This record gives sequence, C-alpha cells and structure tokens, in this order.
Amino acid sequence: MYIEEVKPEMKLPETVRIFDTTLRDGEQTPGVALTVDEKICIARKLDSLGVDTIEAGFPAASPGEMDSVRRIVDLDLDANTCGLARVLREDIDAVIDCGADYIHTFIGTSPLHRKYKLKMSPEEIIDRAVFGVEYAVEHGLSVEFSAEDATRTEFDYLVEVYRAAEDAGADMINVPDTVGVMIPRAMNHLIRGLRDEIKTQISVHCHNDFGLAVANSLAAVEAGASQVHATINGLGERAGNAALEEVVMALITRYDLPITIKTTELVNISEFVSKITGVRMPPNKAIVGENAFAHEAGIHVHGVLEKAETYEPITPEMVGHKRRIVLGKHTGANALRSKLQEYGIDMNEDQFCTLYEQVKRLGDKGKRITDADLRAMAVTILGKATREIVKLEGIAVMTGESVMPTATVKLRIGDEIKTTSMTGVGPVDAAINAIQSLVSETADIELDEYNIEAITGGTNALAEVFVVMSDAEGNKATGRSTREDIVMASVEAVLDAINKILSLK
Ligand code: KIV
Ligand code: ZN
Repeated sequence: MYIEEVKPEMKLPETVRIFDTTLRDGEQTPGVALTVDEKICIARKLDSLGVDTIEAGFPAASPGEMDSVRRIVDLDLDANTCGLARVLREDIDAVIDCGADYIHTFIGTSPLHRKYKLKMSPEEIIDRAVFGVEYAVEHGLSVEFSAEDATRTEFDYLVEVYRAAEDAGADMINVPDTVGVMIPRAMNHLIRGLRDEIKTQISVHCHNDFGLAVANSLAAVEAGASQVHATINGLGERAGNAALEEVVMALITRYDLPITIKTTELVNISEFVSKITGVRMPPNKAIVGENAFAHEAGIHVHGVLEKAETYEPITPEMVGHKRRIVLGKHTGANALRSKLQEYGIDMNEDQFCTLYEQVKRLGDKGKRITDADLRAMAVTILGKATREIVKLEGIAVMTGESVMPTATVKLRIGDEIKTTSMTGVGPVDAAINAIQSLVSETADIELDEYNIEAITGGTNALAEVFVVMSDAEGNKATGRSTREDIVMASVEAVLDAINKILSLK
C-alpha cells in the first residue's frame, strides 16, 4: 500500500540482472577457502538458480583460481561466467586464457586509493582504465568496469572515469560501495546523478559494513540501476556483500520486478553454501534462516494457523522453506493441538493437559521443544499406565568419584509409604535397584531391557528412556519416559512398566 504510493517517485528499471559473486567476493570471507570441486558444485547450483552472471574468481590471483575459473567456463553454463581482473594486461590475459567471455575489470578511484594504494594521479588512473577496457574489448570480451571505492570518489571525477570507460567500450558500469559507507538515500542520489551523465547500464556492488548492503542495493535500483552484485548468504569481505536471497525476494515481492530466479531453490543453495564454507547462518537470518518462518508465540501461532499472511509476508514455499511451529513458553493450546494433528496423535483431554503442562514447564526453563521432543513426550503420555499403584514420593541420588553411587527412594505402594537406599554402578542403576527392592515385597519384577536416547543434541537434551520389564508369571510390559534428567526419565519409565504389570493382577 505504502510502496505503491512511493513507486511513482522511483526510476525502476524494467528488470534487474543478478550478478553473483559468491565464488569471488564471497570466497574472500575470512576463513573461507573453497576447492575447485566445491566451486564447481556451487557454480552449477547458481546456474540452476538462474543468476545472470557468475563471477567465478580472480584468475591472476593464483594457479588454483585460474584452474577453477577455467573449469567453470568449461561447464558451459547458461549464466555468463566472469573473471575478475585489475586493468592490467596480465590480469586480463589470465581471464582470456580461462576462456571466459565476460570480464569484470577494476581500478581504485577514490583519493585514498589514488594516494595510498596506487600512488597515481587521477589522469593516470583514467589512462589505465581506458587501456584495460579497450584491451578486453579488443579480445572480444563483454566488459564490466568498476571504479573501486566509487562511493568515496569525487562525483565529477567519477563521472570522468566512467565516461572514459564507456567510450572505451564498457558494456556495464559497476558502482562499488567498497567499504559499505553509503546510506540508501545517498546511494539513490549517486545513481540518479550517474544516470544523468552516462548512457551505459549501471550495476551496484554493496558491502555490508553497516548492515545496509541490501538497502543500498535496492535504493540504487530505485534510481535505475539494472544490475545488482550479490552473494549467497551475504558472504564476502569483512561484513560481507548484499545477500542474494534478500535482494531477489525484495525485488520480486516488494517492487514487483520480473526477476527470473528460481526462488524455491534459495533455501537449498543457502544451506549448501553454508555447509561447504562452514559459515553458519544466524537463525534469524532473513529469508533463509532457521527461524525465518518459525512461530512460537501463542497469539502469532493462532493467527498463522487461521491465515498465514497474518504473520508471514511471503509463503515459506516460495523460497523452499518450511513453516515451523516452535513450542516453548509462549506456546498456546491451539498450536499444540495443531502439532498433534500434524502428527496424527489423538489424545484425550487429560493427556493433552499433561502434555501442555510439560511443554510449558520446559519452556519456562528456556528449552525449545523440537518436533522430535514433542512426539516422544506425547508417546510417553499416551502409553502411560492408567493406574498408579506404585507412585514416586521422593528420590535423592548421590554420585561422584570415589563414592559408591547411592539412591534413596520413597514410594507409595497402595496405601503404604516405603523407603530404602541402594547402591549401583551409577545413579540410574542405584535408583532402579532401590525401586525393585521396594516393589519386590509386592511382586517380583525384573528389568529385561533398558534403552536410553538423547532426542536432540546438547547437555540439556531431552532423554527418552524405554524399558521392558516382566514378572515371574511371564507378564511383560513396556515403560517409557521423556525428561531432561536421565535418572528421573529412568525412574519414571521403570515405574510406568511396573504399574502396567501390577494393573494386570
Ligand atoms: O568491493 C569492491 O570494490 C570489489 C571490487 C573488486 C569491485 O569487490
Ligand atoms: Zn567487493
């Protein structure tokens, strides 16, 4: 609604090309180094995602880079395969040697780069830029020219540089915000200014030093930029580059631009790149983060279950994600019922209340309950003995180095309260021995099988204990419990099985 009101003020292009630089700037992420095979896998995925151009690497940087760019060129992908080069003959030759037909060539233009990095006059830099572009054009390459640190370069000089590159035959003028210093309004202003001065298509390359890379890229598009450089998961130097998944989804859904990216592949490629690079995404990462379509709060879940748009701006399916109803302390009864329905678990009202209380209790302790946790808890409650002939009234366990693990257990058996202490090889064994000793006065029940499993990782994971017990008459029963404390889970599972056997009598 509000977007439509401001659209007439924009100079939106008809479409926006997506130039992916995951394999070049993305690989410059500190700590990331990809093998040739890994780069090839990513390149194939980027191609099937539908990006227009893949910047495959910087061939002059090393023989390894050269090899990977060459091998990606050899894949003959639908996307353009581009190599990066300084405006130097040897760098450009390296791109040509790889067989690429698209080059991204650059030179620093800001006062800082002129004085400290290049030690060149403004005129010399223009000469070098013209040489590089002309040389690449003469060798039949499509040429994209970048004025590195453009956003800290004097406007008039920047125009001079870009005009010279344009006259030398550049096909695309790229505007790098090399150290991410822009704000959206300034980016919009700069691109509008450049559009008035040059005829060639304009591209932007925004870094994320202030978390504004995506916003600045979009502001540039609003001013008429028709290409955006981006990386999967926003990888890149320092704080990274504009995140491709965010740029693409904003362009499609906020600006209604016809971007030909297979958006349903976004989560898949994000996870793949995250695994391969070892750079994990924060759970709250937009579009592809684990929580991007997760709902915990009771009111939100109620809304989402009634009509997803209440708390979701786009559907998770659109980006290949899944909606997740996360259970925790904010979980409402509606969310829990819908989860049980999802798993086809029928419960009576008492069982449901028990489960709901458990979820709230764990949530209050700060535990996030996974789907696997919930299923295990529900199965435990469903399978619980209906009569509690033996009830735990209290338990204390002591364990440690050079002390005998000992458990003191207090049980109500029928109307009687009984207490005993027993030792064991560990606290679980000691507790089970104590229970068996107290129950043996009523029935001789043996433990046949004991299984324990941590449902999810972490030291506070829920433990699921499953036991099989039998009595002297051959009656068998299973017992199950799910708790964070393995001693309590074991005690509850054993009592569950004992109560089932005693109920048969
Ligand atoms: O950030 C930057 O300026 C770059 C250049 C190579 C264009 O990555
Ligand atoms: Zn960059």
